[in-house]
Amino acid sequence: MYLSSKTGFKIPSVGLGTWQAPKGEVCSAVKAAIDVGYRHIDCAAAYGNEDEVGDAIAAKLSEGAVCREDLFVTSKLWNTYHRPDLVKVACKKSLENLKLSYLDLYLIHWPMAYVEDREFFPKDENGKFIFSEVDYLDTWKAMEQLVDEGLAKAVGVSNFNSEQLGRILANCRIPPACLQIESSPYFVNGRLIDFAQRAGITVVAYSPLGSPKRPWAKPGDPQLLDEPLLKAIGAKYGKSPAQVVLRFQLERNVGVVPKSVKPERMKENLDVLDFSLTKEEVEQIAAFNKDYRAVLLEWVAHHKYYPFKEPF
Ligand SMILES: NC(=O)c1ccc[n+]([C@@H]2O[C@H](COP(=O)([O-])OP(=O)(O)OC[C@H]3O[C@@H](n4cnc5c(N)ncnc54)[C@H](OP(=O)(O)O)[C@@H]3O)[C@@H](O)[C@H]2O)c1
Repeated sequence: MYLSSKTGFKIPSVGLGTWQAPKGEVCSAVKAAIDVGYRHIDCAAAYGNEDEVGDAIAAKLSEGAVCREDLFVTSKLWNTYHRPDLVKVACKKSLENLKLSYLDLYLIHWPMAYVEDREFFPKDENGKFIFSEVDYLDTWKAMEQLVDEGLAKAVGVSNFNSEQLGRILANCRIPPACLQIESSPYFVNGRLIDFAQRAGITVVAYSPLGSPKRPWAKPGDPQLLDEPLLKAIGAKYGKSPAQVVLRFQLERNVGVVPKSVKPERMKENLDVLDFSLTKEEVEQIAAFNKDYRAVLLEWVAHHKYYPFKEPF
């Protein structure tokens, strides 16, 4: 199943997340994902594993399991490459690692730029992040050029708020095709999703299962997949809580990129296209909302383009 927009942009509604898919495992995980039917792989330079993801894609292409046109590969521009002259450099590096000649979608990972030409997480001697002044509008112009040059079929943004997205829309030549943002029943993110969809932008939800293994999770944090109501709704359809929360997003016309390195779970997460939730069930699930972000990055909240200070 694809999500599509009036602009002709099309993206498979369920993709495989690769953040924290460990080196040494991610290659076999991506091969298994393609074998069980995934056609959309969500990658990023910052995940540090694009080289292995690329090995898996290359292996599957060369054995004829899929052809390039069947696959939808997303990558993301990291914060240390926002300076316009570095955008193409970063894109080409991801392409080299992924062993591809073009990306289906290239996203600006975050609106905040960090100082260039250093490590991915540049910090001073006190452990404070070192920022860059680059305006994401200038970065966007360089993203548009990637489309002109055929290096990316489509470009978009991730973790932008409505004000930042509006600023791009008002100043762009090519509007963002896609917005990738956090959304799960604990962080429904409805106003931003409505804003983007009304502007014709396709929305993909990251951390759709609540990101239970995020590195900063604390003992006592709420566990989405343990919610009894999700289990009860799932039982009605013979589905798991994970399948219910993924289907919840599809009912809102929002794509999902759940991460797993386990073939059984990958299959489970893809097997969400043969049932529907009722309007009442969607509302009940949305009522879980706690405005609880799994990915907050509060340590860079003083950046002038930090996106999560606005209401949405
Ligand atoms: N744009 C951004 O800034 C951004 C930020 C965060 C995430 N993302 C993208 O979104 C993807 C997904 O987000 P996420 O990795 O934070 O979290 P998630 O997909 O919400 O949750 C992944 C976790 O759930 C487990 N899991 C997977 N399927 C399951 C199932 N059916 N039942 C029970 N547990 C299951 C996985 O473990 P196993 O692997 O052991 O199965 C993993 O620990 C990322 O991998 C990345 O591609 C993007």
